[in-house]
Amino acid sequence: MTPSPSPYDWIDDSLAAIHRARWYRQVRVITSLAGPVVEIEGKAMLNFASNDYLGLAGDERLQQAAIEAIARYGTGSTGSRLLSGHRPVHGDLEQAIARWKQTEAAIVFSSGYSANLGAIAALAGAKDLILGDEYNHSSLKNGAKLSGGSVFDYAHNDTTQLRLLLEQHRSLHRRCLILTDGVFSMDGDICPLPEILALAAEFSCMVLVDDAHGTGVLGATGAGCAEQLGCSKVPLVHVGTLSKALGSLGGYVAGSASLIDFLRNRAATWIYTTALSPAAAAAALAAVRIVQTEPERRSCLWQSVARLRQHFEGVKNLKTLPSESPILCLQLPDAETALLASQRLAERGIFAPAIRPPTVPTSRIRISVMATHQPEHIEQLGRAIAAL
Ligand SMILES: Cc1ncc(COP(=O)(O)O)c(C=O)c1O
Repeated sequence: MTPSPSPYDWIDDSLAAIHRARWYRQVRVITSLAGPVVEIEGKAMLNFASNDYLGLAGDERLQQAAIEAIARYGTGSTGSRLLSGHRPVHGDLEQAIARWKQTEAAIVFSSGYSANLGAIAALAGAKDLILGDEYNHSSLKNGAKLSGGSVFDYAHNDTTQLRLLLEQHRSLHRRCLILTDGVFSMDGDICPLPEILALAAEFSCMVLVDDAHGTGVLGATGAGCAEQLGCSKVPLVHVGTLSKALGSLGGYVAGSASLIDFLRNRAATWIYTTALSPAAAAAALAAVRIVQTEPERRSCLWQSVARLRQHFEGVKNLKTLPSESPILCLQLPDAETALLASQRLAERGIFAPAIRPPTVPTSRIRISVMATHQPEHIEQLGRAIAAL
């Protein structure tokens, strides 16, 4: 009797297809402290691949806050927030985020991904309409699916198409939730929040903005895209992460007191999971304070972004994606070319990843600038890109 094929054989076939398409991904091992220069496989590399925009992940004050929280509470939070996982530092962090975001309240989750899943699935159900930007982060798209609502994507930042979808579908549904990234993570541009909010008011919709990459970076106090675009006072579901400019781990939702109270009772990814570790919460709390009291970090960041853009302007035939953030992307024709470009940059001591389908529709090199990059780091990157 010939052995029947294993029901797991398809996994190897699928992996082979991923290799053929040049979509295969691997981890890179960093063996040093987070910062603008990191050690990868024994080699010092200039780091343009990090979301640590303000350079806080390696900051001693965050480290100290985490160490003190561990000494006081231990490494784990031991239970869900509603059972045995709540510590004073969780409440302090939530209050600090709410004050900063100018909202009545906030709630912290174990990650930004779970904040989106939990909030979206709690706010919308089978009778509801969810409209999202086609370039939204995976957590927004999967949150929409999880909700069981009717989901439609609109073309990237296209409020004309958003209006059309609202005209077609809004009246057929009970509630409507519009989802958008604040800063688009793999492109670097910003959502047209005032226009989206105007449509939301006209068609009676809720709006959730995921400011994972704008928090700490955009706005006078770093409160994010809503602050930068003058929308802080408008009712809005603010989502974000503690893991990028805030240098820690975890996610949050900020908004009205009743929204947050509702999520504490209905967001499954908050109720049925272990609370954020005290160390991560304490480090994030230290970061929220630093971000507001050290605006010079943002000034350094934007100076470096401007310097890098100048370099780009001097390179013939270089195609970049439109960006209003520290995320700058070089457009490349295909996955193979993007991988080769990333490899060439690595040979010159620069760590900048190739981002390929299916993460994004077109291949690119994604460069993220940090406040702690020095002018000579930007120079070195500029020279390496010109040499490409
Ligand atoms: C736009 C966006 N939202 C949410 C997330 C998820 O956040 P976290 O890493 O905290 O899960 C990310 C990236 O990680 C992101 O880029």
